[in-house]
Amino acid sequence: MTVCEYKPGLEGIPAAQSSISYVDGKQGILEYRGIRIEELATKSTFLETAYLLIWGELPTKEELKAFETEIRYHRRIKYRIQDMMKCFPETGHPMDALQASAAALGLFYSKRALPAPSYIREAVVRLLAKIPTMVAAFKLMRKGNNPVKPNDNLDYSANFLYMLTEQEPDPLESHVFDVCLTLHAEHTINASTFSAMVTASTLTDPYAVIASAVGTLAGPLHGGANEEVISMLEEIGSVENVRPYLEDCLLRKAKIMGFGHRVYKVKDPRATILQNLAEQLFDKFGSDKYYEIALELEQAVEEKLGYKGIYANVDFYSGLVYRKLGIPTDLFTPIFAIARVAGWLAHWNEQLGENRIFRPTQIYTGDHNVAYVPIQERT
Ligand code: ACO
Repeated sequence: MTVCEYKPGLEGIPAAQSSISYVDGKQGILEYRGIRIEELATKSTFLETAYLLIWGELPTKEELKAFETEIRYHRRIKYRIQDMMKCFPETGHPMDALQASAAALGLFYSKRALPAPSYIREAVVRLLAKIPTMVAAFKLMRKGNNPVKPNDNLDYSANFLYMLTEQEPDPLESHVFDVCLTLHAEHTINASTFSAMVTASTLTDPYAVIASAVGTLAGPLHGGANEEVISMLEEIGSVENVRPYLEDCLLRKAKIMGFGHRVYKVKDPRATILQNLAEQLFDKFGSDKYYEIALELEQAVEEKLGYKGIYANVDFYSGLVYRKLGIPTDLFTPIFAIARVAGWLAHWNEQLGENRIFRPTQIYTGDHNVAYVPIQERT
């Protein structure tokens, strides 16, 4: 067996072969199944993109209609799951509520084995359909309100915003939200996707796969940066304070939230699309001083850190967009999860194709032949 160099966090070590997505961090390219993200953001919808990611090709008109109809039909969640969610503490983080609820779906629909194509299809539909309903339900239930039932007349994104805000959204709002989901749907083997793949490789059920991935996404080093961008913009407080704030961060060697990326060394292509969407929202519904602060900060960071390859990442503008859509800050990461379920399911399906359980090795750094000391002799 070839002994490989040890890389903490497996950085740069290929852990799988995959044809789902591709990133070129030097040129700022992201492709899903070979299609550039810019094209999907302008021409596709989230559900069509999810279909593409999971089954490898764009659906025909009939296939897409059937997929959308099935998802619409499965949006409701069982009363028993709602009753369980009512017992969650209202102070709990929505990501913890989502992880527990996703795992609970397995109590009803689990199958632990190499699944048949019909089971894969049912699980894909159920997870894509029910995860947004569970996120919206917890948002209302933690305040003691009843969840809003899905509205069969609304498409995927409009229905989610409706369940969340109890109002039918403006078409621009639901379009912008749908593009946000498309942009977050997949991004090669990041931590949560790897977690999904490892869990999938044991042939456990897809609800456990998604629950593991949600738990991994919840960490501040992964899904939580857009929440921190909003806190940072609030702390900066004014356009005039942007450059003094940045100088202070640089002196303290503090990271500027929403900038830098392990892979992209130019501006993240998703940040460019999100900035454009934010502009459309602010043009239609009125500007926001935090957007002005963000524009000035991006300019200043580019001047000071551009030479290091530090540019705006996907999280920099997504928080501003969600805020403008009236979404509470602690739901930003669950929304990331709603989108990324598509990518996680694509990797689950791919993993099942030529499955081999993940079993990496380790470099043991402990002692050997250590004597057992009886408890009364220990100091
Ligand atoms: N602000 C200031 N300096 C930065 C930033 C930043 N946001 N990001 C990187 N740098 C600097 C580092 O200080 C380091 O400088 P040095 O070489 O002089 O020591 C250099 O750039 C390289 O930084 P690393 O931390 O080694 O880069 P890495 O690739 O490991 O980090 C990461 C990527 C974790 C995303 C980092 O840029 C960061 O913490 N950014 C802020 C948090 C953030 O926005 N996270 C969301 C990422 S996108 C996502 O997960 C969906």
